[in-house]
Amino acid sequence: MSHVVNTLRDRLSSRSARVGVVGLGYVGLPLATEFARAGFSVTGIDLDARKVDAVSHGTSYIPDVPSEEVVRLVSTGQLSATTDFAVCSTLDTVNICVPTPLRKTKDPDMSYIVSAVEQIARHLHPGMLIVLESTTYPGTTEEVVKPMLEAGGMRAGIDFYLAFSPERVDPGNPTFNTHNVPKVVGGLGAESTELAALLYGAAIETIVQVSSPQTAEMVKLLENTFRMVNIGLVNEIALMCDRMGLDVWEVVRAAATKPFGFMPFYPGPGLGGHCIPIDPFYLSWKAKQSGFDPRFIELAGQINGGMPHFVVDKIAEALNRHRKPVNGSTILVLGLAYKRDIDDIRESPSLDVMTLLHQRGAEVRYADPYVPELAGRAWHGGFDLRTQPLTADAIAGADCVAILTEHRTVDYDLVRDSAQLIVDTRNAIAGIHSHVFKIGAPAPAATVEPRVTSDEQRVA
Ligand SMILES: NC(=O)c1ccc[n+]([C@@H]2O[C@H](COP(=O)([O-])OP(=O)(O)OC[C@H]3O[C@@H](n4cnc5c(N)ncnc54)[C@H](O)[C@@H]3O)[C@@H](O)[C@H]2O)c1
Repeated sequence: MSHVVNTLRDRLSSRSARVGVVGLGYVGLPLATEFARAGFSVTGIDLDARKVDAVSHGTSYIPDVPSEEVVRLVSTGQLSATTDFAVCSTLDTVNICVPTPLRKTKDPDMSYIVSAVEQIARHLHPGMLIVLESTTYPGTTEEVVKPMLEAGGMRAGIDFYLAFSPERVDPGNPTFNTHNVPKVVGGLGAESTELAALLYGAAIETIVQVSSPQTAEMVKLLENTFRMVNIGLVNEIALMCDRMGLDVWEVVRAAATKPFGFMPFYPGPGLGGHCIPIDPFYLSWKAKQSGFDPRFIELAGQINGGMPHFVVDKIAEALNRHRKPVNGSTILVLGLAYKRDIDDIRESPSLDVMTLLHQRGAEVRYADPYVPELAGRAWHGGFDLRTQPLTADAIAGADCVAILTEHRTVDYDLVRDSAQLIVDTRNAIAGIHSHVFKIGAPAPAATVEPRVTSDEQRVA
């Protein structure tokens, strides 16, 4: 079958290969545009007809991909989109970028990968290269994808090529994007690795080849577990500092001046996004199948999962200073997205904090310039909400403002000067102020005197 490898090698080198990307989300659309920019003819495939229509009309729904770029690539014929997998029969390569969520039981939900691979398998032809990019447990490419693709009689690494390459996109990061973040590639056999490296090498600056798909799968899970565990560690240090009357923000800032052997992580209201709270449990699940009990992941999961509760307790403590109960107080949650400067609310700890406050009887509002509306089904409050304008009146109208995401476009001086009370989980408000409570820091000095037990009631 050496002619098929030569044909694909030539097509990839000359950029005449027809490239497909399955799943046009946060990962797939930036990748598809990057391949198109590199000169390939790219077809995006997604089950969501709205996304396919948007791309076909030159509209981007991913903030990191400008619509002007999509318009340009669609109008020159470099980029197109469809809901129909039949196009796979005309494609030389297919990258799979579909979701990999967890089930309620924290087990991997492989249904999206299985469904996409089932469709691709129907149109698999000799010489095709398939690359899985969805984050998943080590072994998925060989144990799940390979047998499905081989069911028709062709063999991976011989008749068609198969690799895993983890996606490292960091939405909202102005410095690092699909093009300049090194890409790890592990193929099933040397030719699969080489062809996948050739494909990515046309569009991405640095390619890092590893020995197998499992290694590449494990690389991604090490990266995400590293982040999850370190965030868990700094959150625990924040809880400690809170108890000990120390300021964790000052501690981390000073520790970060060490030029070696330390990397700063920052506390917050909990983990969010489609990756860090989820992916390590894929690893945990797989490790348990081998009889290995991964303790760091479970522990970090517990600490990070407890942070929304801690934030709600902090809000209660702050309100208490004003002699107000949570029940009946108006809380303005500032920041719904799971991290700053993006619109993604998946797994956002803000949703947990809002739910807990709602359950305690608070009137919950939110303000987020990136998230105009919150559907009732997206949080456990169960009713729709619309973002509040961040005016002095709206801020002052809340009994407490809880800063949960520190978007850079927010005027924190206005928030500081207008709010009655602030709980700041991100150290967005600089300095110490009598009405600003921070997680992991001593409570501000009281300006309201506590009521003391009356003299008549005291035992002399
Ligand atoms: N978002 C990130 O920052 C990020 C970073 C690194 C890795 N990842 C990983 O990349 C993968 C994709 O994540 P995402 O954030 O792009 O998800 P997403 O939900 O934004 O996009 C996935 C897309 O796949 C489509 N889809 C679902 N099933 C399909 C099918 N059977 N056929 C065709 N299309 C289908 C959906 O309609 C959606 O448009 C996940 O495994 C995720 O863990 C995500």
